[in-house]
Amino acid sequence: MPMTDPLWYKDAVFYEVHVKAFFDGNDDGIGDFPGLTQKLDYLQWLGVNCIWLLPFFPSPLRDDGYDVADYLGVFADYGTLEDVRRFLDEAHRRGMRVIADLVLNHTSDQHPWFLESRSSPQSPKREYYVWSDTDKKYEKARIIFIDTEKSNWTWDPVAQAYYWHRFFSHQPDLNYDHPDLRRAMLDVLSFWLDQGLDGFRCDAVPYLFEREGTICENLPETHAYLKEVRKRIDEAYRGRILLAEANQWPADVRPYFGDGDEFHMAFHFPLMPRLFMGLRSEDWHPIVDMFIHTPPIPETCQWCLFLRNHDELTLEMCSGEERDYMYYAYARDPQMRRNIGIARRLAPLLDNDRRRIELLNSLVFTLPGSPIIYYGDEIGMGDNVHLGDRNGVRTPMQWSADRNGGFSKADAAALYLPVIADSLFGYQTANVEAQQQTPHSLLHWMRRLIAVRKRHRAFGRGTIEFLRPRNEKVLAYLRRHGEDVLLLVHNLAGSAQAVELEIRQFKGAVPIELFGESRFPAVGEAPYMLSLAPYGYYWFQLQRTTAGEPTYGIEDSLI
Ligand code: GLC
Ligand code: CA
Repeated sequence: MPMTDPLWYKDAVFYEVHVKAFFDGNDDGIGDFPGLTQKLDYLQWLGVNCIWLLPFFPSPLRDDGYDVADYLGVFADYGTLEDVRRFLDEAHRRGMRVIADLVLNHTSDQHPWFLESRSSPQSPKREYYVWSDTDKKYEKARIIFIDTEKSNWTWDPVAQAYYWHRFFSHQPDLNYDHPDLRRAMLDVLSFWLDQGLDGFRCDAVPYLFEREGTICENLPETHAYLKEVRKRIDEAYRGRILLAEANQWPADVRPYFGDGDEFHMAFHFPLMPRLFMGLRSEDWHPIVDMFIHTPPIPETCQWCLFLRNHDELTLEMCSGEERDYMYYAYARDPQMRRNIGIARRLAPLLDNDRRRIELLNSLVFTLPGSPIIYYGDEIGMGDNVHLGDRNGVRTPMQWSADRNGGFSKADAAALYLPVIADSLFGYQTANVEAQQQTPHSLLHWMRRLIAVRKRHRAFGRGTIEFLRPRNEKVLAYLRRHGEDVLLLVHNLAGSAQAVELEIRQFKGAVPIELFGESRFPAVGEAPYMLSLAPYGYYWFQLQRTTAGEPTYGIEDSLI
């Protein structure tokens, strides 16, 4: 992929990683930038195009860095600004880009702005946060972390007032009604882009402004500010991107793309649980229905599709019935539940069934959008539901069967979190080294998946057309980009299935299976018959035989 294409993100494969979790360069038990830099060759080998880094800024780490105490610094255990710059240079040298989290909505209560703000009503920073004499304002706003917080207001004994927070009570919301604050955050953006970052995953964007009588989400004022953020990118940093974290229905996410003048990308949150539902219920309806409810987006924009991330598998965009179903299907043990969701990794969610892991990955790699891989899921890493908060899915990357999974040479007790060591998912079995040595490992399969996807722009840029076969267990769709026509067929069932596809419009075309390059029988007048193994899938390119091409053989002349 040329590094000069401004629309690079439309074809990119993303990889989400936490600096502290990847590789420990100085053996103190915590991953760091020098360690991450050492592992860039691995990410290049895997074929990813863009790395998304979780917050790496100074922080009391009460929300794993999403509680920022200094936007312009680097958390000391992770390295120095110089280490970050070196990392960015090395990533760029290998043709990879890097985006990082930008936490716009709130800071840590240890941020100097907040300390100053609470110190006195006369403080020039007072209005950087949202203060009130009563906790009865903005009552229509829901509480997001309902498992830990009782209210969006917390009394501050120092300020003798309540402050507003949409997340943890130690994360006061910034006040975007204040022009100095709005400018300060734009300066944060420029600072990191000047260091060489290729963009941002913008955290919790729906909540920037508050207005009485509303749910305080997706307000017009919020969109207006985000457009200013985008303007800064377009004016001075062409080719860099903004990716929105807006856990909302597609119709509410759509405005975050604006007319191509707000976000370049946004996660498709509601699709994610429906991929798991479709698989479990062996039915394509939940998945196809979600796309019916997904409005078209501007040409220069892109969805970001994912299966798992560093948070719980969120069920916020699900009905009560759907939630019950998801808990029943994927989290029978209440220990696995967090907030409104399930704190597990991909492989354990799917009972470590290689066929189902491949199937769901195949979906996020072929549905419209750019796929993102959560670190460790490419080797089928496990989780530890006994660790608090969402830490169970944030354990050290497993590199080898060596001590601490090859992540660090520190004492096991010094690791920021214990490495997974159970008999099924532990580092002794699930690790990069072992899987690199095994040609048929999940890791090698993921690498191939990425490589095959990259050969066709239709995956990132093509249109989609669902075929809706009568067999509801088989999800089939066409992706088209110019002359390139791809046919994707997925068996969501744990039993072998036959399917008839209405594709006579491609009569004469020969389906070429993209992984093995084998030719299938040509499409004819009758419905196209395929049989699929349990959880089987096909990626075909429909190769048209050009009219007038000479035909050979006796059978051809009989047609
Ligand atoms: C986002 C992050 C999550 C964090 C929250 C509050 O949802 O993904 O990890 O806890 O914002 O900052
Ligand atoms: Ca370290």
